[in-house]
Amino acid sequence: MNNFDFYNPTHIVFGQNRLNELDKLVPAKARVMVLYGGGSVKQHGTLDKVLSGLGDRCVVEFGGIEPNPKFETLMAAVAVVKEQQIDFLLAVGGGSVMDGTKFVALAAKTESEPYKMLFHGFKPVPAKEALPLGCIATLPATGSEMNSAGVITFNKQKFPFACPLVFPKFSFLDPDLTLTLPKEQIANGVADAFVHVIEQYLTQPTDAKVQERMAEGVLKTLIEDGPVTYRDNSDMAARKNFIWSATNALNGLIGRGVPQDWSTHMIGHEMTALFGIAHGRTLAIILPHLLRVRKNHKRDKLLQFAERVWDITEGTDEQKIDRAIDNTEAFFNSLDIVTSISHYGIDDEGINALIGNMEKMGLTALSETRDLTLEDVRNILEAAK
Ligand code: NZQ
Ligand code: ZN
Repeated sequence: MNNFDFYNPTHIVFGQNRLNELDKLVPAKARVMVLYGGGSVKQHGTLDKVLSGLGDRCVVEFGGIEPNPKFETLMAAVAVVKEQQIDFLLAVGGGSVMDGTKFVALAAKTESEPYKMLFHGFKPVPAKEALPLGCIATLPATGSEMNSAGVITFNKQKFPFACPLVFPKFSFLDPDLTLTLPKEQIANGVADAFVHVIEQYLTQPTDAKVQERMAEGVLKTLIEDGPVTYRDNSDMAARKNFIWSATNALNGLIGRGVPQDWSTHMIGHEMTALFGIAHGRTLAIILPHLLRVRKNHKRDKLLQFAERVWDITEGTDEQKIDRAIDNTEAFFNSLDIVTSISHYGIDDEGINALIGNMEKMGLTALSETRDLTLEDVRNILEAAK
């Protein structure tokens, strides 16, 4: 296990019917901006519950944050924040709204050009100050509700950023708020959370037993309860486990002191930017093909994944690994996610465009060992045809 720091100050408020507790968590004299997306929270009554939880505080609404939130939209929110002297941000929505709110929190306080905060990659943005923020999460998927990261679309490209100043002060995880999700968003969320765990677990052997066994526990829970939540809106027990799995998949804990391989995410981000495919779905399309192309590189961990996550005990090592990858693909397919790029209209020209974009973004040496080249990306996409 490598040296590490672990810091996560987010207060999680988990469970049904707890939005009235907002009053205890938002400062009494706060001037609050409530940020939301394209209207689902208005349509389904979540916004009303939130506004009532905020009591008689001064509240300004900012709606219209789109999926894969755009820099321009968020800068419009920053202008209102400054004009209205807002001092607390409340995100009500999925990963896009939570990420967008984190960006607004930093952009409202930065002295330099806000877009420059998008050019630090996985290194923390060197900010001195950010507005405090809280989240009401309505879509279990990204883990944004308990991490300090976000992804913003700028000039038609997706840019990740991170900064410890934007850990949410609190996040409400109320399973009732997720009942209105369209089925495909549940599937996308299960896939996103699954791949978050994989990218911190399925790398090289480590002796980080706690992180590995926690990762395996989250994967097994997603395999058990993801499809139940996808099919059955009434199974609250499964839904709660899925929601908490998604948060734990990317709240930092399982990734401490171990190598990480975000290749699937980097390829997926380009698929979203170029072809508009939803984030979680892009990951499910790419992962099985990436694992086949990188089978030798990841052999030891793939075997552990086969034995401990998929309980495969029969056959040679090679057979166990092949079955584990096939099971992973079948798992995504069971959520009605098609795992071939041609289904989404991506042809040879699309593959070339995607690889060209990755080169432009400097994504030329990926994986935990930085030896996954654009040639490998091409092989993965060819295999995914
Ligand atoms: O905009 P509204 O009308 O609210 O509709 C949204 C949106 O259309 C809808 N939705 C959300 N909650 C709902 C609901 N519809 C009905 N009922 C509800 N309860 O779902 C649609 C998708 O929402 P979005 O927030 O875009 O989805 P998700 O949570 O999957 O977030 C994806 C974004 O997160 C980024 C992705 O790149 C993408 O931009 N990521 C953020 C990460 C992080 N912060 O750590 C890591 C991830 O890997 C990911 O990259
Ligand atoms: Zn993701």
